[in-house]
Amino acid sequence: MRTSTPERLPSSASCLQPAPRLRQAASDDLASLLELELACFDEARRDTPAAIRRSLASSRMEVWVLDGLAGRIDGALFLKPVRKSLSVESLAVRPGMRGRGLGHGLLEWAATRARALAVRWLTLEADAADPDLLGWYERHGYQRAALMVSFYGPGRDAWRMRRDPGDPSTDLINR
Ligand SMILES: CC(C)(COP(=O)(O)OP(=O)(O)OC[C@H]1O[C@@H](n2cnc3c(N)ncnc32)[C@H](O)[C@@H]1OP(=O)(O)O)[C@@H](O)C(=O)NCCC(=O)NCCS
Repeated sequence: MRTSTPERLPSSASCLQPAPRLRQAASDDLASLLELELACFDEARRDTPAAIRRSLASSRMEVWVLDGLAGRIDGALFLKPVRKSLSVESLAVRPGMRGRGLGHGLLEWAATRARALAVRWLTLEADAADPDLLGWYERHGYQRAALMVSFYGPGRDAWRMRRDPGDPSTDLINR
């Protein structure tokens, strides 16, 4: 599903100047998305170029990007409706831009899209060996639902987490 209008990133990141521009990705964002993927994920967790290309071409996947300076992409969010859920397939913020609320804003945007699509759950998989990441998702209302053994490869487990998309007024702003 593709919408054309750029959006303002919700919540805390809106204090950044200039305000980050959130928009849906196009096919010519492939190279920038690949560069972001390399900067953000180790090999086991990284999507292949072919997978990213497929996501950009898919009518079901929503790929949202945050434009940075000099034509760079500073953040990306891949969302996919799966039955009664909206799956956060990937979420990443450029290392030099972390800790400023961009990830929080992208997660809020995922909840906004889930409410717009009227799905029952927001779901994601998070690295079971990364307690900071798991705690961050928990502070955003996600709960551990199932341990996915060797999800990222042998011995690299993930927690499947989920939350109710809720009402806009229940979004967590507790950073
Ligand atoms: C997870 C991620 C998107 C957060 O982006 P961000 O823009 O830094 O997020 P925010 O600025 O909104 O929040 C920063 C918080 O991230 C938390 N955090 C999340 N994952 C973390 C990690 N792996 N290591 C350290 N801190 C992490 C910190 O606790 C920090 O909390 P604080 O604000 O209380 O200090 C970013 O760290 C990232 O791209 N990581 C690599 C890719 C990844 O693991 N993505 C998740 C896929 S499941």
